[in-house]
Amino acid sequence: MDSFTSKVAVITGGSRGIGYNVAAALVDRGAKVVLGDILDQQGEDAARELNERVGKQVVAYLHTDVTKYKDLKALFALAEKLFGGVDIAVLNAGITGKGSGGIFTPLDGDKVALLHMAKSGKGGVIVNTASLSGVLPASPIAAYSASKFAVVGWTRSLAHMKHVANVRVNAVCPAVCDTDINSNLDDQSTSDYLEFSPKVQMEVIVQAFLRCIEDPRLSGDILMALPDGVHVQPKYIAPASSVSKEYLEKFPEIRKRGTKFAKDSLAQAIENAKL
Ligand SMILES: NC(=O)c1ccc[n+]([C@@H]2O[C@H](COP(=O)([O-])OP(=O)(O)OC[C@H]3O[C@@H](n4cnc5c(N)ncnc54)[C@H](O)[C@@H]3O)[C@@H](O)[C@H]2O)c1
Repeated sequence: MDSFTSKVAVITGGSRGIGYNVAAALVDRGAKVVLGDILDQQGEDAARELNERVGKQVVAYLHTDVTKYKDLKALFALAEKLFGGVDIAVLNAGITGKGSGGIFTPLDGDKVALLHMAKSGKGGVIVNTASLSGVLPASPIAAYSASKFAVVGWTRSLAHMKHVANVRVNAVCPAVCDTDINSNLDDQSTSDYLEFSPKVQMEVIVQAFLRCIEDPRLSGDILMALPDGVHVQPKYIAPASSVSKEYLEKFPEIRKRGTKFAKDSLAQAIENAKL
């Protein structure tokens, strides 16, 4: 089945950089896209440019501050209203430099995406933007690195959503790429770290996002977008002493119970969310 034609994607941080490039790749493959960002002029321009490219309205922009839950709800509601639903969600907005000590994670974005995809009954794909510094500690940007580790852990922990709601959640970890996020840095050690890091091309990053969307085997997976191409990060292996024999024997039964509990909780959350 075609993973893109007539599919509807929501992309946060879509006015420029990685989000914009993923949006353009999806539009080129026949998808419709709703962009959310706080850079309104650039977002409106991006939507207009992509619509002109196709010759009809396939892209819309909405001011969305991803730190505000109500903005995220409005963004996904717009996708539903304009294009009839949400199949793909790219939670990509991010900052570095001044003020990024408390960098947000895409947790709320994933939640709203999941509720929409489960409500429709069709499922979908969520892709979070993490970073190479979400698997490899980067001390000059420690708070940023910690928040991206959180995105990776969160994404790994949602692997079972494939069984709960037919939603695959994956993350892309780009190495350093020349975008505006790296142009406003407030200290020398961060600038050095970025200046001397090998760079990944934007095409490779976009390729990683497309693979997360297209490949039905990927769920709870982490795709590294590196200077030498896209790599799937190996899954964790539990230390032998941390898993009991009894647990392993009972695992199919435990998983069945867990899936039922998650389905019931999700149904309740959909009702509470009043989407
Ligand atoms: N460029 C890199 O070297 C690099 C490497 C690894 C990961 N990343 C990650 O990639 C993602 C995209 O970054 P980019 O490189 O395209 O940079 P970018 O600055 O070009 O794009 C980030 C976008 O997020 C938007 N944004 C920031 N705060 C927001 C908020 N509160 N609400 C909504 N939108 C907001 C910005 O306005 C911008 O349009 C980020 O999550 C970043 O952490 C970037």
